Parts: sequence; C-alpha cells; structure tokens
Amino acid sequence: MTEQNFIPKAFSKSVEKGSFTWSSPSNIALVKYWGKKADQIPENPSISFTLDACKTTTTLSFSKKNSSSDFSFDVFLDDEKKDDFKPKIKTFFKRIERYVPFLKDYHFKIETSNTFPHSSGIASSASGMSALALCLMSIKRELNPDMPNDYFHQKASFLARLGSGSACRSIEGDLVVWGRHVEIDGSSDLYGIKYPYEVHPNFENYQDTILLVDKGEKQVSSTVGHNLMHGHPFAEQRFGQAHSNLSKLIDVFKTGDLNAFIQIVESEALSLHAMMMTSMPYFILMKPNTLKIINKIWEFRQDTGLHVSFTLDAGANVHVLYPANEAESVLEFIKNELVAYCQNGHYICDKIGFGAKQL
Ligand code: DP6
Repeated sequence: MTEQNFIPKAFSKSVEKGSFTWSSPSNIALVKYWGKKADQIPENPSISFTLDACKTTTTLSFSKKNSSSDFSFDVFLDDEKKDDFKPKIKTFFKRIERYVPFLKDYHFKIETSNTFPHSSGIASSASGMSALALCLMSIKRELNPDMPNDYFHQKASFLARLGSGSACRSIEGDLVVWGRHVEIDGSSDLYGIKYPYEVHPNFENYQDTILLVDKGEKQVSSTVGHNLMHGHPFAEQRFGQAHSNLSKLIDVFKTGDLNAFIQIVESEALSLHAMMMTSMPYFILMKPNTLKIINKIWEFRQDTGLHVSFTLDAGANVHVLYPANEAESVLEFIKNELVAYCQNGHYICDKIGFGAKQL
C-alpha cells in the first residue's frame, strides 16, 4: 500500500446533504510515537491500548454549496462555537484534500463533545481527529457505496493520521500498531492495524486509571515535541529501542508475562520523558506529584506483588495500568494513596476498549 492507493477514482453517486455521527476513543501508547518525518510518517513504530470511556463524539453535517473555491466549515464544542479550533482543522483538510476531493464542495458543521473535560490535560486530538476522519469516510461511502469495510477502516486511519499521528490508532481494535515493524505482518507507516497475533487473557479488560496531576495547557505542543527529535543526540538509539521493545512485546502478549510487560511499558514512558529532558531546548514535563505517584506505585508493587504499572504521555498525568483481576485491590490503593496527588482529586477510570462506533 502506498499513498496512491488512497486517491479515489470518480464517485459513482452524488449527495446533496446529510449528517453522520461517530464516537471515537482516545488511546494510550505502550511503545511511544515520538519523532516524525514529513507527511506525518512516524520515525518508529508504536502500539497502544484503545481506551473505552475517554471518547469524542462528532456529528458532521454537510450541504452542497455553490462555489467550491475554499473550505467552508464551522466548529462547535458542546454547542459553543469554537473558532480557535479552525486552523487545526483547516490544516487537516488541506492535508487530506487529495484523498477526499469533495471537501470544497460542501459547507460542514462539525459538532463535537468529549466525555472527558477539555481542560483535563487529556489530549483530545486522537479521539477528535479519528471521529472526524470517520465522518468524512461515511460521506465517501455515500458517494461510493460499494466500498469494502476493511478499506473504510484503513482509509479512516490513514486520514486520521494526517490530522494527528496517534489518531490513526483510534479507529478499530483494542491493541493497535502503527508504523512498519519487520516482525508485524501488515504493519504500515501510513495507518494503524489491529495487532494481528495472539494476546493472552491476562490483557483482557486491562484497566487504565488516569490520574490528573496537572490539568493545565500543554507546555510543549506535540508538533514542537516531535520536532525536538530532529538532530536529537539520542534519536537513532531511541528509534531502535522502540523497534526492539515492540519485538519483545510480541512474546509478552503471547505468554501473558506481566512482569516483562511492566518493565517494557515503564521504560518506554521514562524514555519518552528522557528524550524531552535531553533535547534542545529541554523540558521537564513531570511534576513533583508525578514522581510521588511513580514511587508509590513501585512501593506498592514491591509490597503486594500485584501487577500495577504506569505510563505517561507528553505531560504530567499518570496512567495507572493493571490487570482486571487485580482491579479491586489496586483501585483501593489508588483511592487511598494516589488520589491525594491529583489536581482537585480528579481521576478517570478507564479500560481497554474496542474502537470507534457509528451512532
Ligand atoms: C507522547 O499524535 O499528538 O502521546 O502527530 O503531532 O498530532 P501529532 O502528535 P500526537 O503525538 C502523540 C505523542 C505521545 C505518544 C503516543 O501517543 O504514541
């Protein structure tokens, strides 16, 4: 598959107006995507758990307009007009226009809402861009009704990637790989695929409690962050490490070895932050409470032998990961010992989910 495969031929039907709604989840990377080339091509493969509760629901209404000279759309978040979202969506539309050439033929109304608070520090770009990509694919399917389902999902992921890299991992499946990896058949830099191999029941219903340590605006935008990997002194080693961690995870998913899983996932989180600390300019995105939580998790794990671990995204919040059969004790520990470190005591209980849904 190359980019060319996603350029459509003539449409078989025409459509005047309509509306589609998709609900799409966020995801949390186990092996991190950090560093990209031109056209949203990742420097290394990544894999993520799809989440279940943290979702964006988007309704895209469209009506044919007279002139097709420019993009025309309005954006609403929770019924409030959000003109400050427009530049990002315009950039997205520009990037995907050759793959969905009807964009300038319609006026769009994009109505979106998140299950998590906008200011929670949880990035809505993965769930938001994937929901929007799926709505656009629904229009495309109206124009080409004989489109196979697999192609629908693959192209939705391809488009979502052009909105935000991690968004391509939020379309379909509970474990999603994005980026070419020699040991993973079908993996591609262009779109995410469902992890194709055996996954041990230990990972069924895996839990993710998100501790909101800092709900402020992101200190480093993802674009700036990824750029820091250009000319980074440890870039090549980091990209190699991601390949090798993904190789190791193949065996871990098969055998259900939770101790090995914990080691890889925590090391990935700390490597991501190590990259930020050692770039120029450099950043420390963890807060004192992030470190307190990490140390508490390590202590608790040592004392109880339970399989609780953490991962981080590009911020101070902590994702606490644990298997479903240990949920009761771990949740008790979270409530008693960790919630005190969250801003206003806020946390979100989530777990592994299965991807986007049309409503
Ligand atoms: C740290 O997908 O937000 O969460 O492609 O620039 O939109 P853009 O970046 P984005 O980066 C996510 C980085 C990460 C790790 C990950 O999700 O793999």
